[in-house]
Amino acid sequence: MSYPYKSTDDVVNSQKKHMFPCTPKYRQPVVIVEGKGAVVKDIEGREYIDLFAGYAAVNVGHCHPKVVNAILEWAQKIHHTSYDYYNVPSALLAEKLVQILPMKGSKRVFFCVSGAEANEGAIKLTRKYMLKFKHKAGLDIITLRYSFHGRTHLTTALTGQTKYKRGMAVSISIPGVKVIPTPYCFRCPFKMKYPECGVFCAYYLEDVIKYESSGDIGAFLVEPVLGEGGIIVPPKEYFKICLDIIKSYDGLFIADEVQSGFGRTGKLFGIENFEVEPDIVTMAKGITSGLPLGAIGAKSEIAEAFEPGDHSSTWGPNAVTCAAAVAVIDVLLEEKLHEKAKELGDYFIKGLNDLAKRHKVIGDVRGIGLMIGVELVKDQEKKTPATEEALKVREEMRKRGFLIGAGGAYGCTLRIEPPLMITKEQIDRALEALDEVLKLVK
Ligand SMILES: Cc1ncc(COP(=O)(O)O)c(C=O)c1O
Repeated sequence: MSYPYKSTDDVVNSQKKHMFPCTPKYRQPVVIVEGKGAVVKDIEGREYIDLFAGYAAVNVGHCHPKVVNAILEWAQKIHHTSYDYYNVPSALLAEKLVQILPMKGSKRVFFCVSGAEANEGAIKLTRKYMLKFKHKAGLDIITLRYSFHGRTHLTTALTGQTKYKRGMAVSISIPGVKVIPTPYCFRCPFKMKYPECGVFCAYYLEDVIKYESSGDIGAFLVEPVLGEGGIIVPPKEYFKICLDIIKSYDGLFIADEVQSGFGRTGKLFGIENFEVEPDIVTMAKGITSGLPLGAIGAKSEIAEAFEPGDHSSTWGPNAVTCAAAVAVIDVLLEEKLHEKAKELGDYFIKGLNDLAKRHKVIGDVRGIGLMIGVELVKDQEKKTPATEEALKVREEMRKRGFLIGAGGAYGCTLRIEPPLMITKEQIDRALEALDEVLKLVK
């Protein structure tokens, strides 16, 4: 097929004219036409090392040959069958997923199309389970400030950031959603210091349940590492304390693994770093490393609250996307990419900590595996967010051939979440470029 565009401007101008104006404010002028591993090429022939993997999604790398072959095989055979019939890739994917989910015992899965849809389905399942087996509505769903759970009305309500709710009255008025302070040690909401704080923020969950909720608890929904909020890694004992509290009020623990799943944090699922067993897991992004597929995994006794016809999704069991996900799981396990993510993440973080010694603009380096955040501040003491500086770093990195994320709750965190097969040599080049660029924003 031939396309009528020859340059970046041709595509950018066409998109500006024809698309809804809701895409990111600082959309980067890069028209990506090819990708291989951790490198992408633009329409002008320029190459970039991809440090953001399309919002932390392309875990096994761009166009991994095994994933491409799986897609091609099923693209030529059958794309879509719906849940009224069966297909082979979705059957195999369900078998493989239940084997790797971070829960013991019997498990089941459901396929949909996106992370937001997976979270919506998880809340429906929670409430159905509560009604059927616990004889309550499961009204209250507790989430974290600075979290991100999607862009539908319910998931926007669950998201702990007002910037996603402005002008969307319905999203803030969904009953039962409670957003509590986050274990963000760099900017502790209680102005305490870890570990002397005794993880006060975790125990605060019980206060909210006792004094702010309806008492009819549904679930605690959390990202094991908060991604969009600025790569916030909770203290290691945080989730264990929260799990005990939520269980004592007969609520479920839902891990939103949309971003932290499929090897990104050095484990197959982010929650495994905290040695906590969730009841429900939601997935998307890395599950296919490039095609639209979401999934919900749950302990069987919970999944069985759903009755035939209770929930569905037209494209969910799509043969092509499920075949890609089967190949992704095989690649992750064969190439031990999660283990590599841990080693490479440690290497990257060490390099970033070295940069922090030289660049005062770096307020905090944090992360786990290849889910890394570098928070920039205008001054070390007041920690004033260096938002414009973060945008400038992103732009200057792009000019030097590196795609990097900039955002977080305060808009000043560089997000480094590359494909998990990035090499040490590529990391060294990224660190060198960052060293040069950070001098421009000191
Ligand atoms: C943790 C988390 N949950 C949910 C979502 C929403 O996923 P999707 O964009 O596929 O709906 C995202 C997307 O960034 C995410 O990071």
